[in-house]
Amino acid sequence: MTEPTPAVRDRALSLRPAELPAYIYDLASLRDHAAAVRDALPERVELYYAAKANPEPEILAALGPYVDGYEVSSGGELAHVAEAVPGRPLAFGGPGKTPDEVAAALGAGVERFHVESAYELRVLAELARAHAPGRRVAVLPRVNLPVADGSLAGSSLAMGGRPTPFGTDPAQTVEIVRALTDGTYPHLELRGIHAHLASGLEAAEQVAVAESIVSWATGLGVPLAEVNVGGGMHVDYADPERRFDWAAYGKGLARLTEAHPGLTLRIEPGRALTAYCGWYATEVLDVKRSHGEEFAVVRGGTHHLRTPATKGHDQPCSVLPVDSWPHPWPRPAAEGERITLAGQLCTPKDVLARRVPAAGLRAGDLVVFSLAGAYAWNISHHDFLMHPGPGFHFLSPRDGSAG
Ligand SMILES: Cc1ncc(COP(=O)(O)O)c(C=O)c1O
Repeated sequence: MTEPTPAVRDRALSLRPAELPAYIYDLASLRDHAAAVRDALPERVELYYAAKANPEPEILAALGPYVDGYEVSSGGELAHVAEAVPGRPLAFGGPGKTPDEVAAALGAGVERFHVESAYELRVLAELARAHAPGRRVAVLPRVNLPVADGSLAGSSLAMGGRPTPFGTDPAQTVEIVRALTDGTYPHLELRGIHAHLASGLEAAEQVAVAESIVSWATGLGVPLAEVNVGGGMHVDYADPERRFDWAAYGKGLARLTEAHPGLTLRIEPGRALTAYCGWYATEVLDVKRSHGEEFAVVRGGTHHLRTPATKGHDQPCSVLPVDSWPHPWPRPAAEGERITLAGQLCTPKDVLARRVPAAGLRAGDLVVFSLAGAYAWNISHHDFLMHPGPGFHFLSPRDGSAG
């Protein structure tokens, strides 16, 4: 739903202006949604949640009963998720894993490594010998597979099927598979193949992509226990009521598991699991006209909710009218039908939604942005993906200090 749930609406209206903006998450609706997704998936399809979409501990815990594990893409995410949902299986993916992160993951007993390059495999093998003696570490090489039939064409965020820093080309993946099966790396075990080729695909495209990945992986001619076909299920910000067709996707995956008895499939969606459970609620501070267009300036902005800026869309929203006006001065109100909702930042890029129908919008009304449960707050601040921050060096040689 894009309209706030009654609980979200009540909470938003109960907050004082100084408590806004606020992210409000409806964990009950998240649980219902996750349960429905789980129900749509056949047996032998494991559901991992890509924590990068929203790693709030409450979100990770609410998803707990419905997911088989969590995909983490940095040492920071790994430590955070392991603490928030202790004991749950983790798959460690993502490009540019540092030796320290790999060693920490081995120490933490991470179940699976999604290996992104031949170099990374080498590092993992060396570190596994030192940090995980006596066990074989499960590896799923990530393949960047070209998909011939145009299934990725609908993607707004393709990570595979074209030159990218993610995974390895099929020929290189074959080399990695060979090294994992010819005794080169005795501390590592080839568990399966991983791919995440694109985000924003509809169910039919996702099924076609999964078929391509499974067919390529099983064609390698080596025993594989698992194939992870990635995440990337579509979330439609332009038509927020429309949902990814989990039932059709589940049917497609069922055909695949029937065709490959003994193979476990895994998916790792992020956005399509948590986008719908979050709202960013704020207050209109001012309403004004500029060169024939009306603007409402709201508390906060794209430094809190970066999603519309990064994806280039209008964030869906609704207005909660507030009739009281506590000030002695007149209340500004919109005269026209369509208003652009901007934040408080001094840049013309700080726009959350353009020309939304909001006739009569007044200062003091609330605006609640929906589909703000994934890649929203967490991509807006500098801890996105929980990698460590940069150092800061202020060089001032003329003072005689190189500080
Ligand atoms: C490796 C991997 N898996 C899963 C996901 C989740 O994708 P989405 O949130 O579109 O489902 C991503 C997103 O970037 C990813 O890189």
